[in-house]
Amino acid sequence: METIIQVENLVKQYRKAKEPAVRGVSFDVRAGEFFAFLGPNGAGKTTTISILTTTLAKTSGTITIAGYDLDKQPKQVRRNIGIIFQNPSLDLELTAEENIRLHVSLYGLYPYRPMYRLMPADYRKRVADLAEMVGIQDHLFKKLKKFSGGMKRKLEIVRSLMHRPKVLFLDEPTSGLDAVSRRSLWEYLKKIRDEENMTIFLTTHYLDEAEGADRVCIINQGRIEMVGAPHELKQQLISRYMLIDAADRDRLRQELEAMQLRFAETDNGFQVRYDGPTPQAIIAQLQTPLSKLEVYDPTLEEAYIRLVTRQEGGMGA
Ligand SMILES: Nc1ncnc2c1ncn2[C@@H]1O[C@H](COP(=O)(O)OP(=O)(O)OP(=O)(O)O)[C@@H](O)[C@H]1O
Ligand SMILES: [Mg+2]
Repeated sequence: METIIQVENLVKQYRKAKEPAVRGVSFDVRAGEFFAFLGPNGAGKTTTISILTTTLAKTSGTITIAGYDLDKQPKQVRRNIGIIFQNPSLDLELTAEENIRLHVSLYGLYPYRPMYRLMPADYRKRVADLAEMVGIQDHLFKKLKKFSGGMKRKLEIVRSLMHRPKVLFLDEPTSGLDAVSRRSLWEYLKKIRDEENMTIFLTTHYLDEAEGADRVCIINQGRIEMVGAPHELKQQLISRYMLIDAADRDRLRQELEAMQLRFAETDNGFQVRYDGPTPQAIIAQLQTPLSKLEVYDPTLEEAYIRLVTRQEGGMGA
């Protein structure tokens, strides 16, 4: 698959800061990918995303986005990206549509006209289509001060997609949203990604949101700890196991030993690891009648906490 973002040895040293916020980070994002950037407070997520979107200068490193070098062709980079940051710059005294119109005019996308109906037909169609996709089509001509936080986020999405960016960057897009708005925002993002064949790069603190990503990149103290599909991270970080028991424990133990499985015997039964064969495959081979069968599949959140606390000398691997 085509690479759309390439970061090599990115370093950011803030002036006066003792240690660099980003310490030589390298990663690739593929075209069309849903890429989640995860890490604890202060890990360097916002710093990295700000550099990638040309809003913050880096100390060193090479960055290519959509084939353009960030240092040599920042304008072309900007033309190919959309940005949704934590603090939106929306004008509350204007209507939603006026906010969009102002943005696209400043962007040089369409010439400014004092009324919606005087704007070009393709502008009006794009606004209507995107507004419908996120569900704010009935509020386009209302002033923003009447909008809830979730509606403002949706307007930001519409605004950031007007120029059909190849990559959409989002820094904690769901912070401050309720669970229902969070979920619907995800649905819209996925829909837009599919329909517009876009790449999504986002940071989040919500691990359940990252479960839906194609790949997750975990950054901690300015360094990348791990990159991979959610299931790969889980596999590396936590061994999956199932708990089984039988009336005839001795026979079950002998069987598990004969199958050369890694297991531990507890009062509740046998904890059997299943990193290779699936639980179904293991159970199918067992002759002993089971009295208990519970399968544990770790969430990404468990895997993540495991990784971060391991660094802090916590729970151990
Ligand atoms: N303007 C700045 N000047 C000096 N240091 C900064 C500045 N901005 C961020 N930092 C420091 O850089 C490090 C990384 O911060 P950054 O905002 O990138 O973290 P983050 O991963 O986005 O955290 P959060 O999850 O809290 O948003 C932190 O130690 C922070 O204190
Ligand atoms: Mg941040």
